[in-house]
Amino acid sequence: MSDRAPRPLIVGSGIAGLYVALRVREMGLRPTIVTKGRLEESNTRYAQGGIAAAVGPDDSPARHLADTVRAGAGLVDRAAAQLLTRDAPARIADLVRYGVPFDTVDGRIALGREAAHSRARLLHAGGDATGLSIEETLKRRVLEGGIEVRERTVLRALRPGDRNGPVAVLSLANGTATEIENPRPVVLATGGVGSLYRQSSNPSVATGEGVAIAFRAGALVADMEFVQFHPTAFARAGAPRFLITEALRGEGAVLRNEAGERFLVGQHPDAELAPRDVVTRAIEREIARSTHPWVYLDATALPRELLFTRFPSVSNFVLSHGLDPSREPIPVAPVAHYMIGGVSTDLWGRSSIRGLWAVGEVAATGVHGANRLGSNSLVEGLVFGERAARDLHAPAPGGPKTPRRLVTVPRTEGHGIPEEQELFEEIRGLLWEQVGIVRDGPGLAAALARFEEIGARVEPARSDTLPGPVANAALTASLVARAALLRTESRGAHYRADHPRPKPSGRQHIGLQREAPRRRG
Ligand code: SIN
Repeated sequence: MSDRAPRPLIVGSGIAGLYVALRVREMGLRPTIVTKGRLEESNTRYAQGGIAAAVGPDDSPARHLADTVRAGAGLVDRAAAQLLTRDAPARIADLVRYGVPFDTVDGRIALGREAAHSRARLLHAGGDATGLSIEETLKRRVLEGGIEVRERTVLRALRPGDRNGPVAVLSLANGTATEIENPRPVVLATGGVGSLYRQSSNPSVATGEGVAIAFRAGALVADMEFVQFHPTAFARAGAPRFLITEALRGEGAVLRNEAGERFLVGQHPDAELAPRDVVTRAIEREIARSTHPWVYLDATALPRELLFTRFPSVSNFVLSHGLDPSREPIPVAPVAHYMIGGVSTDLWGRSSIRGLWAVGEVAATGVHGANRLGSNSLVEGLVFGERAARDLHAPAPGGPKTPRRLVTVPRTEGHGIPEEQELFEEIRGLLWEQVGIVRDGPGLAAALARFEEIGARVEPARSDTLPGPVANAALTASLVARAALLRTESRGAHYRADHPRPKPSGRQHIGLQREAPRRRG
């Protein structure tokens, strides 16, 4: 490999980051992965249900496309979804080549089912340890391939660079040392925003700072109002909000209220397999009527052996909290789960900043529309990761289309007051309460005002000082709240109690971009 080979900097180590690193290395580039925690710590690790691809005998990319488009509530970018569903089987073949041990039955790939999929099309590994298995396999390949990895290293800022790409400013996670890289291609694979919500299925590293950093650098972001909530996380007081996979409902588990009634029957033709947003809001309504903040996922009709072989992580987790899922229903409640919006890209992962790509959850390709179909996210990281890798190898000009509804966000002066952890917790609480499953105009406006106030307080006053985690959290949270305030309708994962129906005018993406710097005089 030549010393002059391009050296992309890949920020993040979930499926998208690891896969892009492996692929560009195979193409002769010299990538470096930087990651905030340990190499294996990412949202991917916690993915349970599976990874979607039309590989079953009764399935086809066209059916997968139709399901993706239907779930996306009128906002799916069809070209992106066509690529996703067409290329998914080939990307699964890549995972098999890298050694991911997908589960089989009688020598054939085993396929599970989740809500709003018309076919069983989820490949899984280790039962419900799909993400863990993928993450560990790709990690092993990265290490065997000698790819440079810098753990506990965070991206702090992106600054204007040259034709090679932006300048990345990196710090050790404990803030002790800061390095300014030479201009080089940068791939954001920093994941989502889940952990900025008080109740979340995501690991603590998922705080959405990739969006804040790209936005500050001038990147276009889109669809930020669409934060997907997962209906069923373990909801016992004091226990972590462990995900209880939707694939359990795919196998026949049902939801019951306090009185033991299946409350989704009669609310939607698909009952417990209705789209995620429908199930989430139905649970919220039941909780509002209940004496405790959860409903029950009842898997007691499933054979015990199936529970512990197909869903070992969930079953053993629940058992470790004193509940036998084959005998007792599991208390569950919704949590923040997935950021549908993010840094706007074209179909090659190119952002609006030259030399900056975004892949996986941090990217907004439009492929999920207003509501992501379960298990389309891991495969998104691969399909658009492959395209970004090819583009990094032979870069071509491009970038996202400007959304018809593009809003310029004014710059605010920062006061540079030192950050306090309480502000971070305040942001998490406000997002959950006012920018959560059910929103309304006054709540969103109040939350946005507070996020901006916190941002102005902690955002550095001088351009040579780096924004910290609270400044990033306040900025990302303000983008979610602002977009949610602008979307005066309900669609997919975004529900406004004061505008409870979709509107024809809402069939467009909302883009946000920072006001350009003022020229000095
Ligand atoms: C689940 O297993 O229920 C989550 C899958 C996903 O969010 O794609």
